[in-house]
Amino acid sequence: MLGFIGAGNMATALARGWGRPVLVADPAPGRAERLVAELGGEVLDDNVLLARRAETILLAHKPEQLETVAAEIAPLTAGKTVISILGGVGVARLEAAYPDANVVRTIPNTPSEVRRGVTCIAEGGESAVELFEQVGRVFVVPESQVDVAMSVMSVAPAYVALVAEAAVDAAVQAGLPAPQATDMFLATLAGTAELIEARGGDTLAVRRSVTSPGGSTARGLAELERHGLRTAFAEATRAVLRR
Ligand SMILES: NC(=O)c1ccc[n+]([C@@H]2O[C@H](COP(=O)([O-])OP(=O)(O)OC[C@H]3O[C@@H](n4cnc5c(N)ncnc54)[C@H](OP(=O)(O)O)[C@@H]3O)[C@@H](O)[C@H]2O)c1
Repeated sequence: MLGFIGAGNMATALARGWGRPVLVADPAPGRAERLVAELGGEVLDDNVLLARRAETILLAHKPEQLETVAAEIAPLTAGKTVISILGGVGVARLEAAYPDANVVRTIPNTPSEVRRGVTCIAEGGESAVELFEQVGRVFVVPESQVDVAMSVMSVAPAYVALVAEAAVDAAVQAGLPAPQATDMFLATLAGTAELIEARGGDTLAVRRSVTSPGGSTARGLAELERHGLRTAFAEATRAVLRR
């Protein structure tokens, strides 16, 4: 069974996506218990017990806890696979913390819960591809690209949710009922993603096909540009990378 160290938001999303019984250790009262009640498996009282039992260990605690957790369990991970989902923690630091394990650096995202996730795996971690493909798409990228990839896949679900919220709020202010506005926007989001894919990733072609000269789309786009949409995304990415 896969062993989870930490049963927070990302661990829960992945575990639900995989849909299989799990071994879990998490000091927060009730969190590991809730996950096991939902999926089956077993709650372990501490990380050492978990590391003894699990063949593959998923590090799903906060990045700052890497060294503390490794001090407890590293000696028990010789020959085992340790998969990290820790944001901003590079392979070198993982290998230093778990010198005798097969270490894999990944960054997943929360849509993994509904098996529409995206996971980035740092080169060298190909052994984990099959596991993460069960919950969505997998991109194996050079380690140097993992952090920047986070801005378009790992933090991006929050951006998309915020954009949806903003668009729906604006429509509600203009008189559309919220449930209808939400359904329409979400269906449009999913449909547009598929259309852009069908056009080979050509966002400009899709945008142009909606934008007639002097028309309402052109007026709307001009306002988004005037209010700094591109700068906002550029600054957001810089902020994500600034650890
Ligand atoms: N959320 C995302 O979308 C996302 C995406 C990609 C990667 N990640 C990465 O996933 C990791 C977890 O993020 P999250 O958003 O799921 O955070 P989270 O909800 O705070 O979950 C972390 C869990 O680990 C527990 N924990 C703390 N110390 C521990 C220890 N020593 N041993 C075992 N468990 C411990 C925490 O308990 P307490 O609350 O009691 O501290 C909490 O339940 C982070 O490293 C993050 O960078 C997250």
